[in-house]
Amino acid sequence: MINHSLLEIEFPQHENLIYLNHAAVSPWPLRSSLAVRLFAEENSLIGAKNYRQWIEKEGLLREQLRTLINAPSVDDIAILKNTSEALSVVACGIDWKPGDNVVSTDEEFPSNRFPWEAQQQYGVALKQISVQTNAPEEALIEACDKRTRVMSISSVQYGSGLRLNLEKLGRFCRDNGILFCIDAIQSIGAHKFDVQAIHADFAMADAHKWMLGPEGIALFYCRAELRDQLKLHQFGWHMVEHAGDYDRKAWEIANSAKRFECGSPNMLGTHALSASLSLLEEVGMDNIEKEVVDKSLSLINKLKLIENLELLTNTTPEKLAGIVTFKLKHGDHGDHADLHRKLMNRQVICAHRFGGIRFSSHFYTPESKINKALEILSSSI
Ligand SMILES: Cc1ncc(COP(=O)(O)O)c(C=O)c1O
Repeated sequence: MINHSLLEIEFPQHENLIYLNHAAVSPWPLRSSLAVRLFAEENSLIGAKNYRQWIEKEGLLREQLRTLINAPSVDDIAILKNTSEALSVVACGIDWKPGDNVVSTDEEFPSNRFPWEAQQQYGVALKQISVQTNAPEEALIEACDKRTRVMSISSVQYGSGLRLNLEKLGRFCRDNGILFCIDAIQSIGAHKFDVQAIHADFAMADAHKWMLGPEGIALFYCRAELRDQLKLHQFGWHMVEHAGDYDRKAWEIANSAKRFECGSPNMLGTHALSASLSLLEEVGMDNIEKEVVDKSLSLINKLKLIENLELLTNTTPEKLAGIVTFKLKHGDHGDHADLHRKLMNRQVICAHRFGGIRFSSHFYTPESKINKALEILSSSI
């Protein structure tokens, strides 16, 4: 059961604002904005006098992230700048051979395409497979061959909102010696996510979407057995075994995933994200996932009643996430840009993606706001 009075306190959004853009950048809960205000005040009054406590907060965050994805150990978690950085760490860290290939979808956000395309210089091909079929997982599996080194996919596609069966893909990859890499930014914080159950080798997600945190701080999971196989390209004081022992001339790369964090941590982001995750913990990921999918289903049913609209999102419940995208039946790019502008002007915060309009509510979004957005949509087309 969700405590609705808690949600009213944590999400004091303007009465007229209808925020349906969690797949882009989410509003912070009240507790995260308070954590940032307190941290700012502490910095201006006493600077980093209590740095030890900040390090403790960083340790707490690492444990919160570990729990959120059920990683075996905090040593498997690196805290990086963003999803793109983590994907680049993987793509640039693999020891490629000419003729290798990477299997992905043809709907990926550029963050999960550019790092792989950048490996073309080493003779690596990126296979971009259409997943707009009844059996998207099979399409990805069939595209793999003896030279496939990595399958790198988004758990949920940012445009269409398609949620892939990660367990099935991960099992196939593990059985066939293919590395399984998941851009999980559109899942973590909205859905339960278990790196062990889905046989993930790498998973990454920035905080600013479903985790309700700030931009510029991201989770990177690397399976322990693979840590040594990724060649490092960034070096600094923080990624060594004896970090902080600045007089030491010799240095060894940290055994843990801290090896991917070259310099000073993002302490401001750490305080904010730790607070945001404490809310997700309090509400519980079971409750959150149920609310996210139920809200998307209810939105889909109501959109179906509006004439001249066509859904672009796969409406099968197990393929559904927090993203619902639709288009005007006979609309072109300009018509959708126009509709998006009208919605934004009337305080319906949403996105123009995948050739249509993307709505993404979160677990706390009141049904009354979704109904209001649909009223505004109906009167705008
Ligand atoms: C699927 C996906 N991956 C990555 C990103 C961006 O990641 P970051 O800014 O953390 O690098 C986005 C942002 O919209 C996204 O939707």
